[in-house]
Amino acid sequence: MKDAQPKAIYLNDYREPDFRIDTTELTFALEEDSTLVSSKLVMQRNQNAENNAALVLHGQELELLSVSVDGKLLAPEQYEVGEETLTIATLPERFVLEIQNRIYPHKNTALEGLYRSGGMYCTQCEAEGFRRITYYLDRPDVMSVFTTHIIADAEKYPVMLSNGNLIDEQQLDGKRKVSWHDPHKKPAYLFALVAGDLLCSSDEFVTMSGRKVDLRIFVEPQNIDKTEYALDALKRSMRWDEEVYGREYDLDIFMIVAVDDFNMGAMENKGLNIFNSSCVLANPATATDAAYQRIEAIVAHEYFHNWSGNRVTCRDWFQLSLKEGFTVFRDASFSADMHSATVKRIEDANIMRTVQFAEDGGPMAHPVQPDSFIEISNFYTVTIYEKGAEVVGMIRKILGTEGFRKGSDLYFERHDGQAVTIYDFVAAMEDANGVDLTLFKRWYKQAGTPRVSAESVYDAAAQTLTLTLRQMCPDTPGQTGKLPMWIPVQLGLIGGDGQDMAVNVEPASAWTADSQVLHLTEAEQTFVFHGVTEQPVLSLFRDFSAPVKVECEQSNEELLFLLQNDSDGFNRWDAGQRLMLNWIRSAADSQFELTDDARNAFASLLADESLDPAMVSYLLTLPSEAYIAEFSDVVDPAAIHKARKAVQLALAESLQAEFIACYQRLRSDASYQPVAADMAARSLKNLALSYWVKADASGLQQAERQYTAADNMTDQMAALVATVNSGDRAQAQTLLDRFYAQWSGDALVVNQWLSVQAGSAEMGTADYIRSLLQHPAFDWRNPNKVRSVIGAFANQALVHFHATDGSGYELLADAVLRLNEANPQIASRLLGPLTKWKRLVPAQSQLMKAQLERIMAQGNLSKDVYEVVSKSLI
Ligand code: ARG
Ligand code: ZN
Repeated sequence: MKDAQPKAIYLNDYREPDFRIDTTELTFALEEDSTLVSSKLVMQRNQNAENNAALVLHGQELELLSVSVDGKLLAPEQYEVGEETLTIATLPERFVLEIQNRIYPHKNTALEGLYRSGGMYCTQCEAEGFRRITYYLDRPDVMSVFTTHIIADAEKYPVMLSNGNLIDEQQLDGKRKVSWHDPHKKPAYLFALVAGDLLCSSDEFVTMSGRKVDLRIFVEPQNIDKTEYALDALKRSMRWDEEVYGREYDLDIFMIVAVDDFNMGAMENKGLNIFNSSCVLANPATATDAAYQRIEAIVAHEYFHNWSGNRVTCRDWFQLSLKEGFTVFRDASFSADMHSATVKRIEDANIMRTVQFAEDGGPMAHPVQPDSFIEISNFYTVTIYEKGAEVVGMIRKILGTEGFRKGSDLYFERHDGQAVTIYDFVAAMEDANGVDLTLFKRWYKQAGTPRVSAESVYDAAAQTLTLTLRQMCPDTPGQTGKLPMWIPVQLGLIGGDGQDMAVNVEPASAWTADSQVLHLTEAEQTFVFHGVTEQPVLSLFRDFSAPVKVECEQSNEELLFLLQNDSDGFNRWDAGQRLMLNWIRSAADSQFELTDDARNAFASLLADESLDPAMVSYLLTLPSEAYIAEFSDVVDPAAIHKARKAVQLALAESLQAEFIACYQRLRSDASYQPVAADMAARSLKNLALSYWVKADASGLQQAERQYTAADNMTDQMAALVATVNSGDRAQAQTLLDRFYAQWSGDALVVNQWLSVQAGSAEMGTADYIRSLLQHPAFDWRNPNKVRSVIGAFANQALVHFHATDGSGYELLADAVLRLNEANPQIASRLLGPLTKWKRLVPAQSQLMKAQLERIMAQGNLSKDVYEVVSKSLI
């Protein structure tokens, strides 16, 4: 907590480090309520450093005990301890620096650095957590070879882990000392240590060059039956990265540890990934299909970081998307290969359109490569991660799959062992393909969501279609007058028979036939399609080919046509969403009726057994309230809620027979398996159930039967959610009580139970949330619980979060203030929904702003919270 206003750090101020650390030897003595850290750093002055530059090490909340250089203890006047630094002015060219300090992991509630979770010790060092362990050059361009010794009570901490390979083990009276060595040099943010009474599941993987790798997942004993799926997902990831990117694993052992208290999803520490237990543990009885898919994706993500992040890392934190955008892109391609590529694309577009577009249109908007930040933890965002992945995906669209692979091969080969920038990545793509991506790089520097409008004129006599595309990107904080971007527009022209027409476009140089991509590179461009024998229906931005907002006038009839005929699955879904959005807009007075054509179209989708059920499930899912809000000029949450409900009811009633038939057809007595085909069938079956309960009471009875019979959490949870959202409060309470009685001993399941209630429009009022916060299952120190209650409330139960009396906003602000000091990262993340205040109808907007002002007025704001609140109030 700072007294002075926290200051911004700028990319332009980047300077190479004055010193390097060739080797780092750390000794941790884990004692009863503190830990003694001894470090021995073999250092030298960098060649280009000024001769007399002082050494300034980072450190936070450390109790310094001693400093010595080349074996000689320094006197206190030979160094200077600042609030967050240790400075040593006079040093030789090469030297050995030894430091001893004490830290207090038991008191660490921020969950950064070394802390306790349950009975174990664990670490989280990215981005700047290592400086809470010892004084160090805690920046990603300082890479060192680490050796770690851990000394602890042999009984309490039978498992002691760090990065790399185990090189030594010794018994010292009652204590044990283990030593680990990581041969790969790495920045401090990839350091990890774990100690606890853990069990492990093991497996092995033989790499493409025939090396055997031990795979281990460490968990607390009660979770040992939840490791199988992650182990399998790990093996699939390792094989996939060999096949698709030619990347092989590079140590003899790969470890994953599950911890209950974790700020984020997981962390890619070299050879020792640490996971939020919710992102790795699963068995059929406790985890839903969605959880299985999330686990598979995150296991893959962290594993893929071994190359995109660890072997090649970031020069500085402004380059965060270098590793995160690329790695999200990699894990998305992996998931697409494991399940349905179209469905994965739909899910990713949904996140972009609801969460990322909102961020890009709000006070925290920032480019994929930001220019400045106050607190780097605030920049682990959907823009850095998901938009960053979209930008990489556009490069692949432009270069094609083969060209992209050539580029990634060159990137890994050229930069192995280095800390580099986003532009080094782009340069490798350019050099491997002989293309110039100068213009494309604007995607990295300009924040905001570009808007692309399309106008077309068909000339029957000339058989031409003239398409005019215009792009503009709105101003964002600190950035005005944006330049045109290079936007790949994947498109098709569809004839009356529903088939794609041949594309013959002028200028031909703007068209890549392989990927069916038209390159829009100017503010306005006109393209002429020749040989167009009939008026076509335009299908633009197939496969969500660019993260833009599209404005293209198409009638409901045309949208219905696209929904039924487009050869691009993503655009079938998109047409359906646009159609539903039109319906919701027209249902403002809560009245809505489907046309016969629309009813019949959706009925035949439901009955079409040739379609992927997961896809059909998305085709019939209404846009979420957050999605609708993002596509509204002024957001009125109550009106959105009512209108959406009216459309939902109309669908439920007019397609009731089809939903029931679909549900019955997809029911299965086979035992649960977390495999793609079964997951797809369950998703449609449970969607059908969710509509059925809205249509009449027989649906609710079926939900109870399904709840009772379920042998897996997917079906049990779907029945519970359908019941909670049915509006039958008594029946909802009955099932909720049964659920808690069955699962109160399993923290991860209890979190799901909390979030079903907190995120429900039928239950999650501010008063109800306050009662959940009093429930014995709730715990402010555990981020998963905070997210399950406060996060679910503010992001999902929008109609209650935006209650007209402001009670929802007040509740959120109370939570932020409560966590501000204890866990600044979580406090800051919770703030998201309040930052959108300018988009709301005036009465709500003022109430939201008042809560932001209330937080601002509080002294002692953490950097994290200060940055978000102060930027939101500008
Ligand atoms: N690098 C991690 C990932 O794979 C995220 C860790 C971020 N941690 C944090 N405290 N900000 O995405
Ligand atoms: Zn990552």
